[in-house]
Amino acid sequence: MTDVTNYAQIDWDDQGRPHSRQYDDVYFSKEQGLEETRHVFIEQNNLRQRFSALQDNQCLVIGETGFGTGMNFLCAWQLFAECAGPGARLHFVTVEKYPLSRADLAKALALWPELADFGNALLAEYVAVHEGFQQFVFEQGRVTLTLMVGDALEQLPQLDARVDAWFLDGFAPAKNPEMWTPELFAQLARLSAEQATLGTFTSTGWVRRGLMAAGFALKKIPGIGKKWEIVRGVYERCPPEQAAPATVAPWYARPPALPGPRQALVIGAGLAGCATAASLAARGWQVSLLDRHAQPASEASGNPQGVLYLKLSAHGTALSRLIISGFGYTRRLLEQLQRGRDWDACGVLQLAFDDKEDQRQAKLAEAFDPTLLQRLNRTDAETMAGIGLASGGLFYPEGGWVHPPALCAWQAKHPNIRLLMHHQVLELRKADGQWQAWEDERLLASAPLAVLACAAEIHRFDGCSELPLKRIRGQITRLPATGQSSTLSTVVCAEGYVAPPRLGEHTLGASFDFTATELTPTAAEHQGNLALLQEISADLAMRLGADHLDPEVLEGRAAFRCTSPDYLPIVGPLADQKAFAQAYAVLAKDARQQPSTPCPWLEGLYINSGHGSRGLITAPLSGELVAAWADGAPLPLPRAVAEACHPNRFMLRELVRGKRRQGEASQ
Ligand SMILES: Cc1cc2nc3c(=O)[nH]c(=O)nc-3n(C[C@H](O)[C@H](O)[C@H](O)COP(=O)(O)OP(=O)(O)OC[C@H]3O[C@@H](n4cnc5c(N)ncnc54)[C@H](O)[C@@H]3O)c2cc1C
Ligand SMILES: C[S@@+](CC[C@H](N)C(=O)[O-])C[C@H]1O[C@@H](n2cnc3c(N)ncnc32)[C@H](O)[C@@H]1O
Repeated sequence: MTDVTNYAQIDWDDQGRPHSRQYDDVYFSKEQGLEETRHVFIEQNNLRQRFSALQDNQCLVIGETGFGTGMNFLCAWQLFAECAGPGARLHFVTVEKYPLSRADLAKALALWPELADFGNALLAEYVAVHEGFQQFVFEQGRVTLTLMVGDALEQLPQLDARVDAWFLDGFAPAKNPEMWTPELFAQLARLSAEQATLGTFTSTGWVRRGLMAAGFALKKIPGIGKKWEIVRGVYERCPPEQAAPATVAPWYARPPALPGPRQALVIGAGLAGCATAASLAARGWQVSLLDRHAQPASEASGNPQGVLYLKLSAHGTALSRLIISGFGYTRRLLEQLQRGRDWDACGVLQLAFDDKEDQRQAKLAEAFDPTLLQRLNRTDAETMAGIGLASGGLFYPEGGWVHPPALCAWQAKHPNIRLLMHHQVLELRKADGQWQAWEDERLLASAPLAVLACAAEIHRFDGCSELPLKRIRGQITRLPATGQSSTLSTVVCAEGYVAPPRLGEHTLGASFDFTATELTPTAAEHQGNLALLQEISADLAMRLGADHLDPEVLEGRAAFRCTSPDYLPIVGPLADQKAFAQAYAVLAKDARQQPSTPCPWLEGLYINSGHGSRGLITAPLSGELVAAWADGAPLPLPRAVAEACHPNRFMLRELVRGKRRQGEASQ
């Protein structure tokens, strides 16, 4: 697979309207862009009436083929803002093979002054839009946009969603026959909620026949402007002659919706817990966020600066896809925070410090778009970094550093979140459909939904003791900036990393200690970090006067990372371990079996942990993932990636490995 994103190639007509060079077609009707969108997509899906009828906490999901300039999305959002109640939500899921560059998007949206408020909000978040699922959150979560960057025929099969209304856009079938195919129609059917509706501008015969064969009942409607006829439709059934849509394995199926009030408790107020609380709060949950310290971000998430570090694979692994989606999501969140104090988009330079790394970087540069990463030779890298370097490397222009406590504080300040600090949860009990958090004999909080976001401390809770999480101690060193070190203008990484100064100090990191259980910073690890600095740049070390720094008096902090064996985080609903082993025991004998026994969930119990060394990239989007699992909402990641992060993966592997061990023994 290749992750190279092709941006839309656009020609602008004499009135400044966009025309696709790739498809030789216009993005919207020259004469009646907005009216046509409203007539074809908004009216044929009855959106005014459906938005107005939404109850508190109800969410309407719109699916679209061909995001283009986002005009359809903005029109839907504008109408939603006008007529939906304050507790209702809109989730817009769309796919785009050739996303517009930010400059082209700005130019296109300038055509619609009446959509300016919405268009400006979209533009403000239109950063780090790379291949795969890209999640955007607007109006504190009232409106969510999941933009899948890639071909509809590749992306839609990865989507887990129930769509209520379809906007079938995507250039005229005659100009784009590759998209309007039976495979596409089958995906629309698979993803349709009961009685899902659709609107499309095309009445081409073979498109209509294809949609009907997939189970949609269609009606031709008079068009406006030059469009003679358009089509509306309703999803009625999965036709008997078609195979039923593939079902997911029961251990990765969605747990049933929780009855009762939308109340949640989240244990742990680091990056994972604050993100989870924010994503639930945005969906109308009342969240109690508990932590044993006086303030959020007091453990691993408490460093002065962390790096948006993307360790990618050229092979499209689940981890690599998670990183690209997570990076985009975190970058969009950061746009809300104060640059220079809370974060900076100064770029991240990963040095090609040996031949192996150099070759790895060459492969990545072939696989990914230059807007995500670029190879720089030594001279260009030095110019970019503002310091002397021993080699060139890979530059991530959209990367940078973050002050994680600022991100946590920003996420935790949602009005639906109640912060309960100095609350150490020692035990979880289930009573009357509620998870109760206890500290000895003191009941701290209770709710039908509980999320464990307390890193490796989840081991203390029943049902989690077997999850394979490891603690790895790490220490950063705080280095006072000097006049000469302040020229450092990007984060530079080799085995360690060093960031441009924040409030007069550079953060230098970080040590790895797999055995230590103590958290007092040590001089030996400061010494180790200074050695990492020498490897990054002898010039910077000199500018910082590193030779004269006494590790005994250097300042820093240490914390535990929490890592899983496959380096993917552990995110999703939890099952009862014993009952799981019994329910799927057949897998131990034959891993190809497909038992249909429903998964024995620990109803309402979820986890968001195992973010290792990259929590800034993975934890915020994992908050969205937990909320989507719990809320029956479209998943913000491809299904396969969500499954790769699922807590049940370990129990499943155990069962299947048991089978292998038996097989080996009998040979
Ligand atoms: C030295 C170091 C450098 C790092 N550098 C980077 C970097 O550059 N970039 C990057 O992306 N990531 C980096 N990381 C990793 C990143 O910090 C973590 O992935 C991230 O902070 C994990 O967030 P978390 O919320 O899962 O865990 P934590 O931040 O550890 O939060 C867990 C919270 O749970 C609370 N808690 C635990 N048990 C209980 C209980 N029983 N009751 C109540 N509360 C409880 C704790 O008090 C804590 O606040 C670094 C980590 C370290 C240690
Ligand atoms: C007519 S434009 C969409 C207009 C858009 N809805 C708007 O509001 O601006 C069609 C879009 O579909 C996209 N597209 C065409 N074929 C596609 C495919 N196979 N997969 C994903 N997107 C596709 C094009 O790149 C283009 O952006």
